[in-house]
Amino acid sequence: MQQVNAGIIGLGTVGSGVFNALQLNGGLLSSRIGIRVAVKKIAVRSLAACASKISRTLLVEDWRSVVDDPDIHIVAELVGGATVARDIVLAALKRGKSVVTANKALISAHGEELFAAASRHGANFYYEASVCGGIPIIKSLREGFVGNRIVALYGIVNGTCNYILTRMKLERAAFADVLADAQRLGYAETPPDLDIDGHDAAHKIGILASLAHGFWVNPKSIYMEGIRDITALDIQFAEKLGYTIKLLAIVKKTAGPATKQSPRARGSDCPRGIQVSVYPTAIPSSHVLASVNDAFNAVFVRGDIVGDSLFYGRGAGKSPTASAVLSDLADAALDLKFGNKHRVPPFVPHECAGAVLPMEQIVSAYFVRLNVVDRPGTLAKIAAIFGGLNIGISSVIQPEGHEGRSVPLIFMLHYAANGAVMAALKKISRLPVVKGRPMMIRVENFE
Ligand SMILES: NC(=O)c1ccc[n+]([C@@H]2O[C@H](COP(=O)([O-])OP(=O)(O)OC[C@H]3O[C@@H](n4cnc5c(N)ncnc54)[C@H](OP(=O)(O)O)[C@@H]3O)[C@@H](O)[C@H]2O)c1
Repeated sequence: MQQVNAGIIGLGTVGSGVFNALQLNGGLLSSRIGIRVAVKKIAVRSLAACASKISRTLLVEDWRSVVDDPDIHIVAELVGGATVARDIVLAALKRGKSVVTANKALISAHGEELFAAASRHGANFYYEASVCGGIPIIKSLREGFVGNRIVALYGIVNGTCNYILTRMKLERAAFADVLADAQRLGYAETPPDLDIDGHDAAHKIGILASLAHGFWVNPKSIYMEGIRDITALDIQFAEKLGYTIKLLAIVKKTAGPATKQSPRARGSDCPRGIQVSVYPTAIPSSHVLASVNDAFNAVFVRGDIVGDSLFYGRGAGKSPTASAVLSDLADAALDLKFGNKHRVPPFVPHECAGAVLPMEQIVSAYFVRLNVVDRPGTLAKIAAIFGGLNIGISSVIQPEGHEGRSVPLIFMLHYAANGAVMAALKKISRLPVVKGRPMMIRVENFE
């Protein structure tokens, strides 16, 4: 049987998971693809500090000795971060080696450069594990849906945020308490900013958006809000109205208001642009994504031919991530065997690729919670501001049972541009009857 040699760089959670998985299922994988994938070297940062029981004959201290080894055909970068990892990936691609990575932060920061280097050096670059761990969403978008235009894609792609929001909903618990618990249990990092402020989800949705629409989505163009400001009260009020709050990553073709920058493309049904964003979203509790709980991930894809599809699974963790890396190792081995270069290139301009629209132009419905002084005329003042900006109110609810001078007032708003709603809320927050900062949560009805 033909053999290809792989070198692993980084023997942490994912690196050791990949090694273990290959020990366990390497034989099965080989019999399926007809090629043996052998690990020839593993680079660790320090041999002295390495507690692994893996044979010392496999371990090296310098990642360059993996990348420079002419007998190593595939390099798996499992170090993380965007500095050494970038050096490793660029060096391996330069030598024409196939590179496998699980590193979304690296792809988000340097993706354009890395894909260009792969193309320049005729090397293959695989990154299935970079988004949603065990869910094969990269391969599905690139190959499974190759005959579809991706109309919309909605993802619960950060397990930490989903775990926190699930517990806040089910236990009526406060954000800070659940976060502290999540950190204690190892579900959230310390500091937790990368997850709870939406950065991790933005890295992932940028990668999926780029694949779905055939052009590199600059991470700076991705609108991002995290879950820090969501209160148990918002979750409860949304629930009473039939909604569940999730941190939703969204890629959606959108008509958007016409601008000089994004005119309607040549009389076709091309969109004026694409929404690429991450923010807490109120979704109907009856929607399948509302029942994705705890640290699970899910991606809901709407293709123009296939219709709606749902992918559900573990988005992180040693074994699910190793499963994705093994799939890439198998692809890399097959591509080496058959001499394939960029079998399905990641970025092929579509006939109407569009551009990422700024958030102000994105149209959605809204849940707005205000704290107001309970006094006649308050509602009229607020309604006048919304009306003045052509924002329709679909319902107003004043939850019962609140005492004292300031009470919550909930508005459900019709579809309106984000820019208009933000402007209205700025004006509303200046009214003397409004106390504190208005809370606005966008509503997604999946229409
Ligand atoms: N963990 C997950 O569930 C998960 C899921 C999806 C994707 N990923 C991605 O997978 C990658 C690895 O994550 P991880 O969780 O496995 O991280 P990790 O547990 O911190 O492992 C990284 C390993 O790389 C080692 N390392 C650092 N610099 C090195 C160098 N110059 N040479 C050799 N080894 C070096 C580290 O050694 P020291 O310990 O000595 O620093 C550590 O053992 C990241 O890009 C991450 O985003 C992780």
